[in-house]
Amino acid sequence: MTSQYRVNYHLRAHKRDNLIEFIKGMLLTPFVLHAQPKPVTQSELSEIAHSPLQRRRSLAMEENAFRYAEIMGNIQTLIDEHREFTKNSIPMYSRLAKLVPSIGNFFTALPLREAFLQTNNINAISARKHVPPSFNDIRRILNTAQVMAIAGNVKLITFDGDMTLYDDGKNFEENNALTGLLVNLLKRGVTVAIVTAAGYGGNAERYEHRLSGLLKNLEKAELTEQQVNRFYVLGGECNFLFRCNASYRLQFLSDDQYESSRLRSWTDAQVQPLLDIAEHELADCVARMGIKAKILRKARAVGLVPEQKLTREQLDECALSSQMALLKFQGQPSSTPSDVPIPFCAFNGGNDCWVDIGNKLIGVKILQELVGSAPDETLHVGDQFLSTGNDLSTRTACCTCWIINPEETQGILTELDTFMSQKE
Ligand code: IMP
Ligand code: MG
Repeated sequence: MTSQYRVNYHLRAHKRDNLIEFIKGMLLTPFVLHAQPKPVTQSELSEIAHSPLQRRRSLAMEENAFRYAEIMGNIQTLIDEHREFTKNSIPMYSRLAKLVPSIGNFFTALPLREAFLQTNNINAISARKHVPPSFNDIRRILNTAQVMAIAGNVKLITFDGDMTLYDDGKNFEENNALTGLLVNLLKRGVTVAIVTAAGYGGNAERYEHRLSGLLKNLEKAELTEQQVNRFYVLGGECNFLFRCNASYRLQFLSDDQYESSRLRSWTDAQVQPLLDIAEHELADCVARMGIKAKILRKARAVGLVPEQKLTREQLDECALSSQMALLKFQGQPSSTPSDVPIPFCAFNGGNDCWVDIGNKLIGVKILQELVGSAPDETLHVGDQFLSTGNDLSTRTACCTCWIINPEETQGILTELDTFMSQKE
C-alpha cells in the first residue's frame, strides 16, 4: 500500500463493516427500482383515494418484502458456500471472499431469509419508500439470524460489560431488565461470562461492586451452587478470572487453577516495554491534539482518561496511533493486534482510550477451553465491532451479536430465549 492509500484506508476502514456494507448495497437495488415513490398523476390520485388504505400499503410491502427476502436468501447461500470452502481450507476461493475480501469465518449457517421476514414483520422495513434498508437494519437481522442458528446448541455466552449490560462506566443495578434473562440462561445450563476490559487485578470486591445488582438477583433467584458456578467474570480483556461461588461472591482463580491460563503466557518483563511505548504514544497524542487528559498506568494496561469531552475522531486517533506504535515495536506493522507475539488491544472506549495487554479473543478462548465449548456453541455479545473496538477480536473464536446498547441486548436475549424454548 502506498502511504496515501493507507491513510485513506484507515480513515474509512475503522468506521465500516464490509459484510454489512455489501448486504446494504445489494438491498439498495430493489429499493431504488421498486420502492421509490412513483410520480402520481391526477387520475392515479383519485384511484388511490378510492381504494382501501390498508390494502394498498400491504400490497406494496409484500412485493418489496419478497424482493428483499430473495436477496437475503441468496446471501445465505453465499455464506453456506463460503463455509464449505472454509471446511476445505480454501476460503479465499469462495464467491463471497471475492465480493468481500476481508470476510472471516462463519461458525454456523445464518438463516438470513427467515430472520429478515421476522424483523420485517415487526419493523416493516419493506414498507419504507424514502429510507432504504440501513446499516442498523442489517446489523439487527444478522443478530436475529445468529441467535436462531445457535439456539439449539449454545453452551457459553460471553458478554461485554459497558454499553452491553449497563451504560458506560455504570454498575449493574438490581432493577436491570437483563437479570431475568441471564438467570434463565444459567438455569438452562448455559455458562454465562462477562468479558470486560475493566481491569482491577485480582480485586474481587471492585468487580462485585460493579455487579452487585446482578449478584443480589442470583441470590434472590436461589440459584444452586452448580448454577452459580457457571457464572464467570473475566476482567482486563483476558487477564483476571473470577467464578461465582455458592455464597454469590466472586472468587479469583489463580493461573494454576485452570489450564487455559497458558493462553496468555506473557511475563512482566515482556509486558512492561509495550506499556512504556503505549504510554509514550498516548502522551504524544495528548500533546499533538492539545487534549486535557490523565494517563493511567496499570499492571496490564495504559489508559487515556479525558478531562474534557473528546470527539470520536480524537479517541479513534489515540487508539489507531497506539495500535500502530505497538505493531511497529513488535516488528509487524502490517499485522493485526491479535497476530503479534504479545497480543494487545488498543481501543476507543467511547469516552476514553485504553491499551490492554491481551484481548477478548484470548478471553473467549480461555473460557471455551475451561467449559468445553466449541466456536459454534459460543456466542459473544458486544458493542464494539469496528477496528477501533475491543469486541472485534472475538470474531475469530466464536459467533457474535453486535448490539449498540443494553436495550438491544435485552431484545436479542429475549429472541434467544424464545428460540431455545422452541427447540426444547
Ligand atoms: P467493556 O466495554 O466492558 O469492555 O469496558 C470498557 C471500559 O472499561 C473502558 O472504556 C474503560 O472506561 C473501562 N476500564 C476500566 N479499567 C480499564 C482497563 O484497565 N482497561 C481498559 N478499560 C478499562
Ligand atoms: Mg463495551
